[in-house]
Amino acid sequence: MTTEDAAQAAPELRPEVLAYYERGEEDGRLDRGANRLEELRTRDLLLRLLPPAPARVLDVGGGSGRYAGWLAGLGYRVELLDPVPLHVEQARRRPGVTARVGDARALDVPDASVDAVLLLGPLYHLTERPDRVRALAEARRVVRPGGPVVAATINRFAGLHDTLYKENYFDPARRPHVDAVTVDGHLRPSAEQPGFTTAYFHQPGEVPGEFEAAGLAATGQYGVEGAAWLMGGLDAWLADEGRRATVLHAMRLTETDPALLGVSGHLLTAGRRPEPLG
Ligand SMILES: C[S@@+](CC[C@H](N)C(=O)[O-])C[C@H]1O[C@@H](n2cnc3c(N)ncnc32)[C@H](O)[C@@H]1O
Repeated sequence: MTTEDAAQAAPELRPEVLAYYERGEEDGRLDRGANRLEELRTRDLLLRLLPPAPARVLDVGGGSGRYAGWLAGLGYRVELLDPVPLHVEQARRRPGVTARVGDARALDVPDASVDAVLLLGPLYHLTERPDRVRALAEARRVVRPGGPVVAATINRFAGLHDTLYKENYFDPARRPHVDAVTVDGHLRPSAEQPGFTTAYFHQPGEVPGEFEAAGLAATGQYGVEGAAWLMGGLDAWLADEGRRATVLHAMRLTETDPALLGVSGHLLTAGRRPEPLG
């Protein structure tokens, strides 16, 4: 797809996904509990997966710009795209961040024009595989040859683990909804079920195939929160500087172990646009 085609064919965001994010809760999401660990660990991984500043980073589905703002502060040149106007407005307030409305499946960005692409959110709201492959193929098109694409997915059993940990799973009315996601990965919200919006929860082993189908060479997979997000002392550990560093050290030790990838709430998969042969 050319840049012009992409701008013309911009697909629509599902209305319930837009309505969910228009509630305005995304900006503060990463401040608490397991989400705080998600942010600390995602930062830790990005520092190792991205080229050094002042590389040009495209943050697709960047939300209110938590990562974009942090990267800009480190000297990266960051452009953020998100289909939710509220997020774009919030991201624009962050120093050094350029933000505009856009969709992962049709990027209005020239070919091979950025050094790295982040997709930390779009893949789990694109519930059909062809849409996810299209988003990854767009990332491949706009990143320079050899440049990294890093994508987040939610793991298949994240909902089960989270609701069991928070004890909502003991409520018989809520359990069938959670169980259904474990079967096919599709989270279908209903009026009776509070929580997250329409999403697809991957098995870790599915993601490299989606990268390859988009012409990206998958280079690694990393559990974001590891098993630590399910541990009772987490909030207190993260509030203590020394213990926080120790938790991050422990999660680095297990982050790529295939047997533990699916225990994490989120997974990062990294890939590269292949260099031309010869
Ligand atoms: C859970 S938020 C994550 C935001 C941020 N990247 C982070 O990691 O904190 C998911 C984001 O994906 C965005 N999103 C959903 N569908 C998308 C699509 N088709 N293209 C681009 N972004 C999309 C949402 O608007 C939302 O900002």
